[in-house]
Amino acid sequence: MHKQLEQEAAARERSAATAPPRHVGIIMDGNGRWAAARGLPRFEGHRRGVEAVRRAVREAKDIGIRYLTLYSFSAENWSRPVQEVSDLMGLLKRFIRNDLADLHRQGVRVRIIGRRDNLASDIRALLAEAEDLTRANTGLTLVIAFNYGSRQEIADAARRLALKAVAGEIDAASIDVAAMSRELETADIPDPDLVIRTSGEQRLSNFLMWQAAYSELVFLPLLWPDFDRSAFDSALAEYASRERRFGGLGTASARTGS
Ligand code: IPE
Ligand code: IPE
Ligand code: MG
Repeated sequence: MHKQLEQEAAARERSAATAPPRHVGIIMDGNGRWAAARGLPRFEGHRRGVEAVRRAVREAKDIGIRYLTLYSFSAENWSRPVQEVSDLMGLLKRFIRNDLADLHRQGVRVRIIGRRDNLASDIRALLAEAEDLTRANTGLTLVIAFNYGSRQEIADAARRLALKAVAGEIDAASIDVAAMSRELETADIPDPDLVIRTSGEQRLSNFLMWQAAYSELVFLPLLWPDFDRSAFDSALAEYASRERRFGGLGTASARTGS
């Protein structure tokens, strides 16, 4: 009995100590299936997906999350039909044009990660505008992963380090985990504590693979356009029930020494 009470107290202590995650990444998946289930074109799913983005940003702010990274277009999504790619580009443009002023008013700082060089110049200009306008904001940081691929990001970082070494700017022997982290696009962003993926798929699909080394992963069965506060809360509750160990010993075994 005594043991059980002790365990319950320890569990309460653990969950009380679990502040909201500082950084949440979301793999927003299932727009196409949401539309197909309703006999609608995929575009309609993506359009409703943007509404879910607006909700998620508001909720993240309310919850007190500091960084929210949304996976919006992967480096591999170019392999979709030309029309769908163009629809997704159009939705990003519309999102920035329609929502940037409001995000700015809310004190949101917008950051974009992903390759820019193969994007159309009007999109590049909008991304730059979003970052420039909100640069000094101190509220939620909204990181939009657009045309993003983790492998590409890591390869780019490795290439830059190699070039610096060849140029004699750094010593190749000094390249370590911290040096790589500093070279990534996320250099000044803390690693995600929690990565949520909707739609039931259980994979990272090239999302923040370096940064998510110790993230808690939560897979939700619902489709992205249906993501709402209760889905967010259930992912956070799941996160709060996890024990993050980072390769060390858990609090329970550390306490009992077993
Ligand atoms: C996520 O929904 C949006 C993007 C990948 C851009 P999907 O378009 O992948 O939807 P499903 O997975 O086909 O249902
Ligand atoms: C991952 O979803 C990319 C985004 C959510 C932007 P996908 O639908 O492209 O991933 P796969 O192809 O199912 O792995
Ligand atoms: Mg998908």
